[in-house]
Amino acid sequence: MDALITVLPGDGIGPEVTKSGVRVLQRIAEAFGHHFDFSTQLIGGAAIDACNHPLPADTIASCHESDAVLLGAVGGPKWSDPNAPMRPEQGLLGIRAELGVFANLRPVRVIDELAKASPLKAELLTGVDLMVVRELTGGIYFGEKKRDTDSASDLCIYHTFEVERIVRVAARIARERKRKLCSVDKANVLETSRLWRDVATRIVSQEFPDVALEHMLVDAAAMHLLARPREFDVIVTENMFGDILTDEASMLAGSLGMLPSASLGESKRGLYEPIHGSAPDIAGRNIANPCGTIASVALLLRHSLGLEAEAALVETALLQVISNGARTADIARGNDPVLSTSAMTAKVVEQIR
Ligand code: IPM
Ligand code: MG
Repeated sequence: MDALITVLPGDGIGPEVTKSGVRVLQRIAEAFGHHFDFSTQLIGGAAIDACNHPLPADTIASCHESDAVLLGAVGGPKWSDPNAPMRPEQGLLGIRAELGVFANLRPVRVIDELAKASPLKAELLTGVDLMVVRELTGGIYFGEKKRDTDSASDLCIYHTFEVERIVRVAARIARERKRKLCSVDKANVLETSRLWRDVATRIVSQEFPDVALEHMLVDAAAMHLLARPREFDVIVTENMFGDILTDEASMLAGSLGMLPSASLGESKRGLYEPIHGSAPDIAGRNIANPCGTIASVALLLRHSLGLEAEAALVETALLQVISNGARTADIARGNDPVLSTSAMTAKVVEQIR
């Protein structure tokens, strides 16, 4: 098949990990006789430097013309002056909104061999396989922001339709899994959460009677994720809770560098990015973990290009390489030899036959 993929390297380690993702896509194209065209565009701090805007019009246009978008990360100390008129993160939030990708899928699967890389007890981790469905284009991230001399506010607003559509996505995913859906909110305090809870209850009971719905307060969810992570199947939650809970959940998988994400809307076009940030402290040193990006590439093949066999092959290759002992610095322990970003990528590429 022919496909056009926009690549948005962004800042920090973004260019290094997206390069790994592109190498894997090229290998897949070669192995299966596909033709992938790549259009690399600016976003974030790199775009502010080059054209004084975190999300240039050319970037938006290229994304709209593409079948899928692969993004690295944005942000860094260079652009984090709180008084700066523009921030790199506006580029990321802007492209999510622009593409209407309201459903952010963040699968968390523990690879047995990595359980000991986690700061948590290995016996709690084997068999963990959960999916966080994070609402991505609403809530406190996108509400009106105000700043006065002595006060500031961020509006958190959710509309019924936004909750309905994200709950539907999560319930459909639950149906393909263990049919357990946990909706996470703060309904004891927040009005938006009370709306969220009502809508989730209605949608699941009317449209997904075969899915077991449980409601959980976000503070309790944060605790249960560490205490009994195996019991979760699908979690659905609002934008900010999903952001926080998935950084927490990444520790189950051994490292923030392992987790991929797929952001989807009404069409097949999706935005794919590792859940980690730009990690400016290790940028440009070829030591970042490319696994989250490579796993995101698998999600891209599956969800935007409909190439299930290719997606599964990338996931198997990644698993195989890790099982064989390949480790980047973040997941190495004791005497494990440490691989660079490019060496880890090469191992995965070699494994794809
Ligand atoms: C993420 C990131 C972003 C977010 C930041 C960089 C704006 O933390 O994708 O999880 O909060 O959504
Ligand atoms: Mg985050």
